[in-house]
Amino acid sequence: MSIPDRARLLGRRVAGLVHSDCHPRPLKLTAAISAIAAAAALSVAAAVPAVAGTSAGTKTSTGTRTGLGIKAGTGTKAGTGAPLWLLAAQHGKYFGTALTLPNLSDPPLLNVADAQFDMVTPGNEMKWDTTEPANGTFNFGPGDQIVAYAHAHHMRVRGHNLVWQSQLPSWVSSLPLDQVKAAMEQHVTTEVSHYRGQVYSWDVVNEPLNGDGSFVGDVFYQAMGPSYIADALRTAHAADPRAKLYLNDYNIEGINAKSDAMYNLVKSLKEQGVPISGVGLESHFILGTVPSTMLANMRRFAALGVDVAVTELDDRIQLPATSADLAQQASDYATVVGDCLAVRRCVGVSQWGVGDADSWIPGFFTGYGAATMFDENYQPKPAFYATQQALRHQG
Ligand code: XIL
Repeated sequence: MSIPDRARLLGRRVAGLVHSDCHPRPLKLTAAISAIAAAAALSVAAAVPAVAGTSAGTKTSTGTRTGLGIKAGTGTKAGTGAPLWLLAAQHGKYFGTALTLPNLSDPPLLNVADAQFDMVTPGNEMKWDTTEPANGTFNFGPGDQIVAYAHAHHMRVRGHNLVWQSQLPSWVSSLPLDQVKAAMEQHVTTEVSHYRGQVYSWDVVNEPLNGDGSFVGDVFYQAMGPSYIADALRTAHAADPRAKLYLNDYNIEGINAKSDAMYNLVKSLKEQGVPISGVGLESHFILGTVPSTMLANMRRFAALGVDVAVTELDDRIQLPATSADLAQQASDYATVVGDCLAVRRCVGVSQWGVGDADSWIPGFFTGYGAATMFDENYQPKPAFYATQQALRHQG
Protein backbone atom coordinates (compact mmCIF):
# COMPACT_ATOMS: atom_id res chain seq x y z
CA MET A 1 0.00 0.00 0.00
CA SER A 2 1.35 3.43 -0.86
CA ILE A 3 1.93 6.04 1.81
CA PRO A 4 -0.98 8.26 0.68
CA ASP A 5 -3.26 5.18 0.59
CA ARG A 6 -2.27 4.28 4.14
CA ALA A 7 -2.84 7.85 5.29
CA ARG A 8 -6.31 7.84 3.70
CA LEU A 9 -7.14 4.53 5.38
CA LEU A 10 -6.08 5.78 8.78
CA GLY A 11 -7.84 9.07 8.09
CA ARG A 12 -11.15 7.27 7.73
CA ARG A 13 -10.58 5.55 11.06
CA VAL A 14 -9.70 8.87 12.70
CA ALA A 15 -12.84 10.45 11.27
CA GLY A 16 -14.82 7.60 12.80
CA LEU A 17 -13.20 7.99 16.20
CA VAL A 18 -13.58 11.76 16.28
CA HIS A 19 -17.15 11.58 15.09
CA SER A 20 -18.15 8.89 17.51
CA ASP A 21 -16.90 10.61 20.63
CA CYS A 22 -17.86 14.08 19.39
CA HIS A 23 -14.81 15.63 21.01
CA PRO A 24 -12.34 16.60 18.33
CA ARG A 25 -9.38 16.47 20.68
CA PRO A 26 -5.90 15.94 19.33
CA LEU A 27 -5.44 12.29 18.56
CA LYS A 28 -2.26 10.36 18.09
CA LEU A 29 -3.59 9.05 14.84
CA THR A 30 -4.05 12.58 13.54
CA ALA A 31 -0.46 13.33 14.44
CA ALA A 32 0.67 10.10 12.84
CA ILE A 33 -1.13 10.93 9.60
CA SER A 34 0.48 14.35 9.50
CA ALA A 35 3.79 12.59 9.99
CA ILE A 36 3.07 10.23 7.12
CA ALA A 37 2.04 13.10 4.91
CA ALA A 38 5.21 14.97 5.77
CA ALA A 39 7.30 11.88 5.10
CA ALA A 40 5.52 11.31 1.80
CA ALA A 41 6.03 14.89 0.74
CA LEU A 42 9.70 14.72 1.52
CA SER A 43 10.04 11.25 0.00
CA VAL A 44 12.20 10.18 2.88
CA ALA A 45 10.34 6.98 3.69
CA ALA A 46 10.20 4.98 0.54
CA ALA A 47 9.58 1.76 2.41
CA VAL A 48 7.17 2.39 5.24
CA PRO A 49 6.45 -0.92 6.95
CA ALA A 50 2.94 -2.21 7.35
CA VAL A 51 1.53 -0.17 10.19
CA ALA A 52 0.88 -3.04 12.48
CA GLY A 53 1.98 -6.07 10.61
CA THR A 54 5.68 -5.84 11.26
CA SER A 55 7.84 -5.36 14.26
CA ALA A 56 9.42 -2.33 12.67
CA GLY A 57 6.98 0.47 13.41
CA THR A 58 9.47 2.59 15.31
CA LYS A 59 13.01 3.12 14.18
CA THR A 60 15.02 1.09 11.73
CA SER A 61 18.39 -0.22 12.73
CA THR A 62 19.99 2.42 10.51
CA GLY A 63 18.26 5.08 12.55
CA THR A 64 16.00 6.18 9.72
CA ARG A 65 12.60 7.08 11.02
CA THR A 66 9.81 5.33 9.26
CA GLY A 67 6.46 7.01 8.67
CA LEU A 68 4.57 6.23 11.83
CA GLY A 69 7.73 6.00 13.83
CA ILE A 70 7.97 9.77 13.77
CA LYS A 71 5.40 9.74 16.56
CA ALA A 72 5.89 6.29 17.96
CA GLY A 73 9.64 6.46 17.83
CA THR A 74 9.84 9.28 20.30
CA GLY A 75 9.92 6.93 23.20
CA THR A 76 10.01 3.36 22.04
CA LYS A 77 13.25 1.55 21.97
CA ALA A 78 14.14 -0.05 18.66
CA GLY A 79 12.94 -3.61 18.67
CA THR A 80 9.77 -3.21 20.72
CA GLY A 81 7.70 -3.00 17.55
CA ALA A 82 4.49 -1.19 16.80
CA PRO A 83 3.06 0.74 19.74
CA LEU A 84 -0.04 -0.51 21.50
CA TRP A 85 -2.10 2.62 20.77
CA LEU A 86 -1.54 2.23 17.05
CA LEU A 87 -2.33 -1.47 17.01
CA ALA A 88 -5.50 -0.76 19.00
CA ALA A 89 -6.43 2.12 16.69
CA GLN A 90 -6.52 -0.30 13.80
CA HIS A 91 -9.48 -1.90 15.56
CA GLY A 92 -11.06 1.50 16.29
CA LYS A 93 -10.07 1.22 19.97
CA TYR A 94 -7.70 3.04 22.31
CA PHE A 95 -4.97 1.77 24.63
CA GLY A 96 -4.56 3.86 27.74
CA THR A 97 -2.74 4.26 31.02
CA ALA A 98 -3.18 6.06 34.33
CA LEU A 99 -0.88 8.97 35.12
CA THR A 100 -0.45 10.86 38.40
CA LEU A 101 1.16 14.24 38.98
CA PRO A 102 4.50 12.81 40.21
CA ASN A 103 4.62 10.71 37.03
CA LEU A 104 4.88 13.94 35.00
CA SER A 105 8.42 14.44 36.26
CA ASP A 106 9.63 10.92 35.54
CA PRO A 107 11.20 10.84 32.06
CA PRO A 108 11.68 7.05 31.77
CA LEU A 109 8.02 6.54 32.68
CA LEU A 110 6.87 9.26 30.30
CA ASN A 111 8.91 7.84 27.43
CA VAL A 112 6.89 4.65 27.65
CA ALA A 113 3.59 6.41 28.32
CA ASP A 114 4.01 8.66 25.32
CA ALA A 115 5.17 5.88 23.04
CA GLN A 116 2.57 3.26 23.91
CA PHE A 117 -0.66 4.91 24.99
CA ASP A 118 -3.26 7.30 23.59
CA MET A 119 -5.66 7.64 26.54
CA VAL A 120 -4.85 8.96 30.01
CA THR A 121 -6.79 8.46 33.23
CA PRO A 122 -5.64 10.76 36.05
CA GLY A 123 -4.78 8.33 38.86
CA ASN A 124 -5.91 10.63 41.69
CA GLU A 125 -6.06 14.22 40.48
CA MET A 126 -9.76 14.42 39.60
CA LYS A 127 -11.01 12.72 42.76
CA TRP A 128 -13.16 14.65 45.23
CA ASP A 129 -10.48 15.02 47.93
CA THR A 130 -8.28 16.85 45.44
CA THR A 131 -10.88 18.78 43.46
CA GLU A 132 -13.10 20.02 46.32
CA PRO A 133 -11.17 19.65 49.59
CA ALA A 134 -13.52 22.04 51.38
CA ASN A 135 -17.16 22.79 50.64
CA GLY A 136 -17.29 25.10 47.64
CA THR A 137 -13.48 25.37 47.36
CA PHE A 138 -12.34 23.83 44.10
CA ASN A 139 -8.84 22.92 42.99
CA PHE A 140 -8.42 21.77 39.43
CA GLY A 141 -4.70 22.54 39.17
CA PRO A 142 -3.43 18.95 39.40
CA GLY A 143 -6.10 17.61 37.03
CA ASP A 144 -5.40 20.44 34.61
CA GLN A 145 -1.73 19.46 34.50
CA ILE A 146 -2.59 15.88 33.58
CA VAL A 147 -5.03 17.04 30.89
CA ALA A 148 -2.47 19.48 29.49
CA TYR A 149 0.15 16.74 29.33
CA ALA A 150 -2.25 14.31 27.69
CA HIS A 151 -3.41 16.76 25.05
CA ALA A 152 0.11 17.96 24.33
CA HIS A 153 0.96 14.33 23.59
CA HIS A 154 -2.14 13.66 21.51
CA MET A 155 -3.81 11.51 24.12
CA ARG A 156 -7.43 11.71 25.18
CA VAL A 157 -8.57 11.73 28.81
CA ARG A 158 -10.92 9.53 30.85
CA GLY A 159 -12.17 11.67 33.73
CA HIS A 160 -11.96 9.70 36.99
CA ASN A 161 -14.06 10.11 39.10
CA LEU A 162 -16.96 12.25 40.34
CA VAL A 163 -18.84 10.35 43.06
CA TRP A 164 -17.11 7.71 45.18
CA GLN A 165 -17.08 6.76 48.84
CA SER A 166 -13.28 6.61 48.85
CA GLN A 167 -10.89 9.57 48.65
CA LEU A 168 -13.91 11.56 49.74
CA PRO A 169 -13.18 14.47 52.08
CA SER A 170 -14.68 14.15 55.55
CA TRP A 171 -16.71 17.33 55.11
CA VAL A 172 -18.90 15.42 52.64
CA SER A 173 -19.35 12.27 54.71
CA SER A 174 -20.20 14.33 57.78
CA LEU A 175 -22.78 16.58 56.10
CA PRO A 176 -26.35 16.43 57.39
CA LEU A 177 -28.07 13.98 55.02
CA ASP A 178 -30.47 16.59 53.70
CA GLN A 179 -27.50 18.56 52.32
CA VAL A 180 -25.76 15.72 50.50
CA LYS A 181 -27.76 15.90 47.26
CA ALA A 182 -27.04 19.59 46.74
CA ALA A 183 -23.35 19.07 47.56
CA MET A 184 -23.12 16.16 45.11
CA GLU A 185 -24.85 18.09 42.34
CA GLN A 186 -22.68 21.14 42.90
CA HIS A 187 -19.54 18.99 42.82
CA VAL A 188 -20.53 17.17 39.64
CA THR A 189 -21.69 20.33 37.86
CA THR A 190 -18.58 22.32 38.76
CA GLU A 191 -16.06 19.62 37.87
CA VAL A 192 -17.73 18.48 34.65
CA SER A 193 -18.23 22.10 33.55
CA HIS A 194 -14.58 22.85 34.24
CA TYR A 195 -13.50 20.02 31.93
CA ARG A 196 -16.33 20.44 29.42
CA GLY A 197 -15.09 19.52 25.95
CA GLN A 198 -11.75 18.30 27.32
CA VAL A 199 -12.49 14.77 28.44
CA TYR A 200 -13.68 11.82 26.43
CA SER A 201 -15.58 10.23 29.30
CA TRP A 202 -16.33 10.42 33.01
CA ASP A 203 -16.49 7.70 35.60
CA VAL A 204 -19.50 9.42 37.13
CA VAL A 205 -20.08 6.93 39.94
CA ASN A 206 -17.19 4.75 41.02
CA GLU A 207 -17.60 1.41 42.77
CA PRO A 208 -21.28 1.71 43.79
CA LEU A 209 -21.79 -2.01 44.51
CA ASN A 210 -20.81 -4.55 47.15
CA GLY A 211 -19.71 -8.08 46.28
CA ASP A 212 -23.18 -9.48 46.91
CA GLY A 213 -24.73 -6.98 44.50
CA SER A 214 -26.18 -4.66 47.14
CA PHE A 215 -25.44 -0.93 47.05
CA VAL A 216 -22.52 0.43 49.04
CA GLY A 217 -24.12 2.23 51.96
CA ASP A 218 -22.11 5.43 51.64
CA VAL A 219 -23.33 8.93 52.42
CA PHE A 220 -24.82 9.31 48.94
CA TYR A 221 -26.86 6.12 49.32
CA GLN A 222 -27.87 7.05 52.84
CA ALA A 223 -29.10 10.43 51.68
CA MET A 224 -30.81 9.48 48.42
CA GLY A 225 -31.04 5.71 48.12
CA PRO A 226 -30.13 4.25 44.72
CA SER A 227 -31.52 7.33 42.94
CA TYR A 228 -28.24 9.16 43.57
CA ILE A 229 -26.78 7.28 40.63
CA ALA A 230 -29.35 8.52 38.11
CA ASP A 231 -29.12 11.99 39.61
CA ALA A 232 -25.33 12.10 39.26
CA LEU A 233 -25.53 10.89 35.65
CA ARG A 234 -28.20 13.45 34.72
CA THR A 235 -26.25 16.24 36.42
CA ALA A 236 -23.05 15.30 34.58
CA HIS A 237 -24.90 15.11 31.27
CA ALA A 238 -26.33 18.59 31.74
CA ALA A 239 -22.83 19.97 32.33
CA ASP A 240 -21.19 18.29 29.31
CA PRO A 241 -23.74 16.64 27.01
CA ARG A 242 -21.04 15.21 24.76
CA ALA A 243 -18.96 13.39 27.37
CA LYS A 244 -19.45 9.64 27.67
CA LEU A 245 -20.77 8.80 31.13
CA TYR A 246 -19.73 5.59 32.90
CA LEU A 247 -20.33 3.55 35.98
CA ASN A 248 -17.04 1.91 36.95
CA ASP A 249 -16.45 -1.00 39.32
CA TYR A 250 -14.19 -3.96 40.18
CA ASN A 251 -15.07 -7.65 40.29
CA ILE A 252 -17.69 -7.11 37.59
CA GLU A 253 -15.45 -8.48 34.83
CA GLY A 254 -16.98 -11.97 34.85
CA ILE A 255 -20.54 -13.10 35.39
CA ASN A 256 -21.29 -13.16 39.13
CA ALA A 257 -23.67 -11.65 41.71
CA LYS A 258 -21.99 -8.25 41.52
CA SER A 259 -21.97 -8.00 37.72
CA ASP A 260 -25.58 -9.27 37.66
CA ALA A 261 -26.47 -6.33 39.91
CA MET A 262 -24.57 -3.91 37.67
CA TYR A 263 -26.32 -5.39 34.65
CA ASN A 264 -29.74 -4.88 36.27
CA LEU A 265 -28.80 -1.37 37.35
CA VAL A 266 -27.69 -0.34 33.84
CA LYS A 267 -30.77 -1.98 32.30
CA SER A 268 -33.04 -0.05 34.61
CA LEU A 269 -31.18 3.23 33.98
CA LYS A 270 -31.49 2.73 30.22
CA GLU A 271 -35.20 1.98 30.57
CA GLN A 272 -35.66 5.23 32.48
CA GLY A 273 -33.79 7.19 29.82
CA VAL A 274 -30.96 8.09 32.18
CA PRO A 275 -27.85 9.20 30.24
CA ILE A 276 -25.43 6.32 30.69
CA SER A 277 -22.91 5.55 27.96
CA GLY A 278 -20.78 2.79 29.36
CA VAL A 279 -19.63 0.41 32.04
CA GLY A 280 -16.02 0.32 33.19
CA LEU A 281 -14.61 -3.05 34.15
CA GLU A 282 -11.66 -2.13 36.35
CA SER A 283 -9.90 -5.47 35.84
CA HIS A 284 -7.51 -5.57 38.80
CA PHE A 285 -6.73 -9.25 38.40
CA ILE A 286 -4.75 -11.71 40.47
CA LEU A 287 -2.45 -13.83 38.31
CA GLY A 288 -4.33 -16.60 36.51
CA THR A 289 -7.81 -15.46 37.51
CA VAL A 290 -9.16 -13.68 34.43
CA PRO A 291 -12.76 -14.94 34.41
CA SER A 292 -13.67 -17.25 31.55
CA THR A 293 -17.01 -15.43 31.40
CA MET A 294 -15.49 -12.01 30.73
CA LEU A 295 -16.33 -12.07 27.03
CA ALA A 296 -19.94 -13.16 27.60
CA ASN A 297 -20.25 -10.53 30.31
CA MET A 298 -19.00 -7.74 28.03
CA ARG A 299 -21.42 -8.92 25.37
CA ARG A 300 -24.43 -8.79 27.66
CA PHE A 301 -23.62 -5.22 28.68
CA ALA A 302 -23.10 -4.24 25.05
CA ALA A 303 -26.49 -5.76 24.23
CA LEU A 304 -28.05 -3.24 26.62
CA GLY A 305 -26.81 -0.49 24.32
CA VAL A 306 -23.83 0.74 26.32
CA ASP A 307 -20.10 0.73 25.68
CA VAL A 308 -17.76 -1.27 27.85
CA ALA A 309 -14.14 -0.47 28.65
CA VAL A 310 -11.36 -2.18 30.54
CA THR A 311 -10.47 0.77 32.72
CA GLU A 312 -7.75 -0.18 35.24
CA LEU A 313 -6.05 -3.33 34.04
CA ASP A 314 -3.30 -4.94 36.07
CA ASP A 315 -2.47 -8.52 37.00
CA ARG A 316 -0.73 -8.88 40.33
CA ILE A 317 1.80 -11.56 41.13
CA GLN A 318 2.91 -12.84 44.51
CA LEU A 319 6.54 -11.75 44.73
CA PRO A 320 9.09 -12.76 43.71
CA ALA A 321 7.72 -13.29 40.21
CA THR A 322 9.06 -16.36 38.41
CA SER A 323 9.40 -16.71 34.67
CA ALA A 324 6.39 -19.05 34.76
CA ASP A 325 4.42 -16.28 36.49
CA LEU A 326 5.41 -13.81 33.78
CA ALA A 327 4.31 -16.29 31.11
CA GLN A 328 0.94 -16.71 32.85
CA GLN A 329 0.64 -12.93 33.07
CA ALA A 330 1.29 -12.66 29.34
CA SER A 331 -1.53 -15.13 28.74
CA ASP A 332 -3.84 -13.18 31.07
CA TYR A 333 -3.19 -9.90 29.26
CA ALA A 334 -3.74 -11.53 25.87
CA THR A 335 -7.06 -12.96 27.10
CA VAL A 336 -8.33 -9.60 28.32
CA VAL A 337 -7.25 -7.76 25.18
CA GLY A 338 -8.66 -10.52 22.97
CA ASP A 339 -12.00 -10.31 24.78
CA CYS A 340 -12.17 -6.57 24.19
CA LEU A 341 -11.31 -6.97 20.52
CA ALA A 342 -14.12 -9.50 20.15
CA VAL A 343 -16.76 -7.00 21.31
CA ARG A 344 -17.46 -4.07 18.99
CA ARG A 345 -18.68 -1.92 21.87
CA CYS A 346 -15.54 -2.50 23.94
CA VAL A 347 -13.97 0.86 23.20
CA GLY A 348 -10.55 0.34 24.71
CA VAL A 349 -8.25 -0.99 27.38
CA SER A 350 -6.39 1.09 29.98
CA GLN A 351 -3.68 -0.23 32.24
CA TRP A 352 -3.57 1.20 35.79
CA GLY A 353 -0.14 2.79 35.67
CA VAL A 354 2.69 2.58 33.19
CA GLY A 355 5.05 0.07 34.75
CA ASP A 356 5.77 -1.97 37.86
CA ALA A 357 7.78 0.94 39.31
CA ASP A 358 4.74 3.23 39.49
CA SER A 359 1.99 0.63 40.03
CA TRP A 360 -0.28 1.06 43.05
CA ILE A 361 -0.24 -2.70 43.74
CA PRO A 362 2.77 -3.09 46.10
CA GLY A 363 1.42 -0.30 48.29
CA PHE A 364 -2.05 -1.81 48.58
CA PHE A 365 -1.58 -5.60 48.39
CA THR A 366 1.24 -6.72 50.65
CA GLY A 367 3.55 -9.22 49.01
CA TYR A 368 2.19 -8.59 45.52
CA GLY A 369 3.61 -6.63 42.61
CA ALA A 370 4.96 -7.00 39.07
CA ALA A 371 1.40 -6.33 37.89
CA THR A 372 1.96 -4.39 34.64
CA MET A 373 3.43 -4.84 31.16
CA PHE A 374 6.68 -2.96 31.96
CA ASP A 375 9.23 -3.87 34.61
CA GLU A 376 10.81 -1.73 37.32
CA ASN A 377 13.08 -0.18 34.68
CA TYR A 378 10.27 0.34 32.16
CA GLN A 379 11.47 -2.49 29.97
CA PRO A 380 8.72 -4.51 28.23
CA LYS A 381 7.75 -7.80 29.88
CA PRO A 382 6.21 -10.88 28.24
CA ALA A 383 2.76 -9.36 28.91
CA PHE A 384 3.65 -6.44 26.63
CA TYR A 385 4.62 -8.68 23.72
CA ALA A 386 1.56 -10.86 24.26
CA THR A 387 -0.65 -7.78 24.21
CA GLN A 388 0.99 -6.62 21.00
CA GLN A 389 0.44 -10.05 19.45
CA ALA A 390 -3.19 -10.15 20.53
CA LEU A 391 -3.75 -6.74 18.96
CA ARG A 392 -2.13 -7.86 15.72
CA HIS A 393 -3.92 -11.11 15.28
CA GLN A 394 -7.50 -10.56 16.31
CA GLY A 395 -10.43 -8.44 15.36
C1 XIL B 1 -5.93 4.16 43.52
C2 XIL B 1 -4.69 4.97 43.19
O1 XIL B 1 -3.93 4.30 42.21
C3 XIL B 1 -3.87 5.18 44.44
O2 XIL B 1 -2.77 6.05 44.17
C4 XIL B 1 -4.73 5.78 45.54
O3 XIL B 1 -3.99 5.91 46.72
C5 XIL B 1 -5.94 4.91 45.78
O4 XIL B 1 -6.65 4.74 44.57
N1 XIL B 1 -10.01 1.60 41.89
C6 XIL B 1 -10.10 2.89 41.40
C7 XIL B 1 -8.92 3.77 41.44
O5 XIL B 1 -11.13 3.25 40.82
O6 XIL B 1 -9.26 5.11 41.63
C8 XIL B 1 -7.93 3.34 42.51
O7 XIL B 1 -6.77 4.13 42.40
C9 XIL B 1 -7.62 1.86 42.39
C10 XIL B 1 -8.88 1.04 42.57
